Amino acid sequence: MDQVIRPRRLRGNAVLRKMVRETRMDKSSLVYPLFIVEGENIREEICSMPGQYRYSIDRLGEPLEELEKAGVSSVMFFGIPAHKDELGSMAYAEDGIIQRAFEKARRDFPNLYLIGDVCMCEYTSHGHCGILCGSDVDNDKTLEYLAKTAVSQVQAGADMVAPSDMMDGRVEAIRNALDKNGFYHTPIMSYSAKFASSFYGPFRDAAESTPAFGDRKTYQMDYHNRREAMKEVLLDVKEGADIVMVKPAAVYGDLIREIKETVKIPVASYSVSGEYSMIKAAALAGFIDERGVMCEMAASAYRAGTDIYITYFAKELAECMEKGVIG
Ligand code: PBG
Repeated sequence: MDQVIRPRRLRGNAVLRKMVRETRMDKSSLVYPLFIVEGENIREEICSMPGQYRYSIDRLGEPLEELEKAGVSSVMFFGIPAHKDELGSMAYAEDGIIQRAFEKARRDFPNLYLIGDVCMCEYTSHGHCGILCGSDVDNDKTLEYLAKTAVSQVQAGADMVAPSDMMDGRVEAIRNALDKNGFYHTPIMSYSAKFASSFYGPFRDAAESTPAFGDRKTYQMDYHNRREAMKEVLLDVKEGADIVMVKPAAVYGDLIREIKETVKIPVASYSVSGEYSMIKAAALAGFIDERGVMCEMAASAYRAGTDIYITYFAKELAECMEKGVIG
């Protein structure tokens, strides 16, 4: 046998395997999404997402403390209002659910980094991501509302805003509005390449935001398209996005990679509700090893090039990173 190059040589020992590991992960790159509801003393499990809960503001301290303890320092808030209307008015109300959540979290957890998801779908009675004109979302009219929502979140204490609506021109509209209010230093993480995906099903359950009619295909992207994703990302960069995002993460690694190689700003990816629920369901049925699959999926997003990973498994992944299971 005359083999000079033997790849197995570098796999023979755990220390060595770690030494030559190509993808390094760190818990500082994790973001945890959290649902907040009106009411008191609420901690209700989301039935399609076992292990994930909706909290009322008075109990918001519980998950935030757990996050800090796990070493996860960034959290993204989703508000679920008691009252929904055509114009999603509770999205930008001073005493809206997400605004009050930011106020409390800002006061009680000064070291946590707070991100606001900016969208209308949790707040509108029809469940679409903007203001309707007939049966479609009116793009330019929606921009005003998104800008108002972003400003109100930052006024309430958000450190960063993340528009997830997919209207054209929203990054520019939000940037202008933030700047006009003196928030020059508040970054925008744009859900740039956001696809019309069946993986969002459990989230819509959690946020009660399933559209009352139709779907989101006139604003979210067709998942067959790669060039179009690049177009969206480059537009957002031009409009002033500080971070661009790919969503979902799991089956979009090709785009994470391409975007990473194209833009000069950080790339985020969102491991969405359906990714979480699939792992949970299969693990609960005893078909897969939950921790193993969770780690492998996270590593694939980082290997593809993600800098920031938004995930419902943030705490568990932080623990695995801490223990050296991954990263
Ligand atoms: C709001 C929004 C959605 C998600 C994040 N922000 C739902 C949607 O677009 O239908 C999905 C997150 C997830 O599935 O975990 N527009």
